[in-house]
Amino acid sequence: MASREQFSSKAGFVMAAAGSAIGLGNIWGFPTQTASNGGAAFVLVYFVLAFLLAYPALMAELIIGRHARANVVTALRSISTGPLTYKLASLAGFSGLIVASLILSFYAIVAGWMISYLIASVSDMLGWQGASSWLTSDSFQRNVIFLAIFMMLTMGIIAKGVAGGIEKWSTRLMPMLLILMVGLIIYVLMQEGAEEGLRIYLLPDLSQIKPALVLDAMGQAFFSLSLGVGTMLIYGSYLSEQESLPRLGAIVTVVDASIAFIAGLLIVPAIYVAKYYGADIFTAGGELIAGPDLIFQILPVLFDSMGGVGAIVAFAFFLLMSIASLTSSISMLEVPVSYATEESGASRGLATAIIGLTIFVISTVILMNFEALFGLVIDLTTVYSQPLLGVMLCVFVGWIWHRDNVLKEIKKGHGDIESTLFWKIWPGYVKFFCPVLILATFIQSIIG
Ligand code: PHE
Repeated sequence: MASREQFSSKAGFVMAAAGSAIGLGNIWGFPTQTASNGGAAFVLVYFVLAFLLAYPALMAELIIGRHARANVVTALRSISTGPLTYKLASLAGFSGLIVASLILSFYAIVAGWMISYLIASVSDMLGWQGASSWLTSDSFQRNVIFLAIFMMLTMGIIAKGVAGGIEKWSTRLMPMLLILMVGLIIYVLMQEGAEEGLRIYLLPDLSQIKPALVLDAMGQAFFSLSLGVGTMLIYGSYLSEQESLPRLGAIVTVVDASIAFIAGLLIVPAIYVAKYYGADIFTAGGELIAGPDLIFQILPVLFDSMGGVGAIVAFAFFLLMSIASLTSSISMLEVPVSYATEESGASRGLATAIIGLTIFVISTVILMNFEALFGLVIDLTTVYSQPLLGVMLCVFVGWIWHRDNVLKEIKKGHGDIESTLFWKIWPGYVKFFCPVLILATFIQSIIG
């Protein structure tokens, strides 16, 4: 067998894993969920859950992945201990593949919108009115074309492999993302109206902490850290044995949560600046508009009100969104592609083409039945499947895989792990605390 690909360095892994984690979930999902869920109360719950639930689950994925050095299906099977757990491994593994592909199928639609608005900002600068209005028209034709463009970008990177594709592009794009974001924040915070947004974002209204908020925050945390579907598992499988997994996992969690928080400093004030300029930011029911209308109606009011610089700010904003989407979408596609190449022996190029095309077709079906399918697929994959699959992965590490073997794997790259707080807490944590808490949150929200 040819030797398996790896990330070339620790920094390469951090860029790729942070690139996967940081996406529309951070820059759009987190700020808007915060703004519509009682502001800083949501931030608080989110942070607690990110470290209490999502980080331990992330560790489970990284450890299984690096140990098995294989895709999610094969990896889970390799730590199963009998026919029953083997079946469970297949079930969880294949569910992961399917959910990752379905997440990509709606994510690519949204990312396509970002690219079309990005190009519209350029045609605005050039004064091409007709082009701009088509690019922002929300027609089926426009949606399919930009979906195809985005899928081709994603497939182009994945076809190049781990070091030459995923790592190379994450390392190029992530610093750009950070620069764009900081620049935009500075600009927006200097605008009239930004202060009101900041206040809403940062002052908690603790009376808002209800079961539904906790479930939302949990789903958001799992989505944001790309958990449950085998993404982090496969990235872990490309990591060298010299690296300390608990440390790298902690870095990725902190970076992801920080970027979500920082994105809130951009988006929430921007909403209130737009309000200052006359945008209607509330629905008829008095709730803050949080869905696609926020990005594609409210923020454009803001850009238009800025005069000449508006097109430049819009360009920077939609470039930021496009980059964030791309470094995440590649990690979704890698999940089924790694399975196909490792199990069928197909070349990476061929596997990428077939799977990418299949996902494109699914996305097109969603576009054709947008009202019925779009929200449904999002809820099914992110609110339910991701946390439940996260429970499965915790069960594999906590109950099925032998504790000595888990220890042996974490010891690689972290020789003194047994004497650390991590090893005192984490094993019992993934075994009892995580599954119980995740399931309890579900049950609570269903009966609550
Ligand atoms: N974490 C990504 C985001 O926040 C989404 C994602 C989910 C990526 C699942 C990979 C797998 O946008």
